[in-house]
Amino acid sequence: MAEFVGAFAASHAPLIARDWDKLAPASREIITSDFRELGKRLTAAKPDAMVILSPDHWTNFFLDNLPSICIGVGEEHDGPPEPFMKNFPWRPIPGHAALGQHIAATAMKDDFEPSISHRLALDHGFCIPLAKMELAKLPRIVPIAVNDLEPPMPSIKRCFAWGKLLAKAIASYPETIRVAIFATGGLSHSIGEPTMGAIDEAFDRDCIKAFENGAEGPLTALLDARMEAAGNGTHEVRNWVIAHAAAGSRGFDLIDYRNMPEVYVGCGWASWSA
Ligand SMILES: [Fe+2]
Repeated sequence: MAEFVGAFAASHAPLIARDWDKLAPASREIITSDFRELGKRLTAAKPDAMVILSPDHWTNFFLDNLPSICIGVGEEHDGPPEPFMKNFPWRPIPGHAALGQHIAATAMKDDFEPSISHRLALDHGFCIPLAKMELAKLPRIVPIAVNDLEPPMPSIKRCFAWGKLLAKAIASYPETIRVAIFATGGLSHSIGEPTMGAIDEAFDRDCIKAFENGAEGPLTALLDARMEAAGNGTHEVRNWVIAHAAAGSRGFDLIDYRNMPEVYVGCGWASWSA
């Protein structure tokens, strides 16, 4: 059977890639060092495969075709199409088709109805953390695109259910492989709306406390009450909730949190032990 070896999370502000050379040296140092620490932890977990949860930033989907959850079940996926991601080192990105299909089948059996894709283009949301962690080798990827962008979005309650479902699917996968989960997105940020660039540090810090505490009820209550007002990008915290629930909602280990107006995002890096 497959073994769950840990969950990991990081923000993916596009300016981390697009404006890298324009950022203050101190900011570049912080970002580099926090991603490096996350990469060390991920490498130490020795995953053969990695489920990555990210929003799709209108790369594969738009309003005419917008799944709540889409599981990448392909043998490979395309690298990020954004010009500022042209140096992404792995193209195409190797997928883990069998694990993706097993997750989709387990979901359908348990009354979830995800969509699937045999070939996704993985945009900066998936790829900035992968690129910045300085991994020597990329595990095979099962990308899961979560609609964090456009209402109606999956409820926080449903995100907890998805996390538990992922844990069940990994535990029941028949091959002996090591599987990690990676969540990308958040924390608070506001993009393309009147509050563009606003970061709600108070929300972010309360959110981190609730993840550290772990309990499902208080974390759900906090996000339901305050996520919407913390900026439209904040909805990406859903992905952290899915990873958190997959790891058993036992609290997480925060690597760092930085309110970074330069990249418009309250940036967090964290991991959950298996
Ligand atoms: Fe995003």
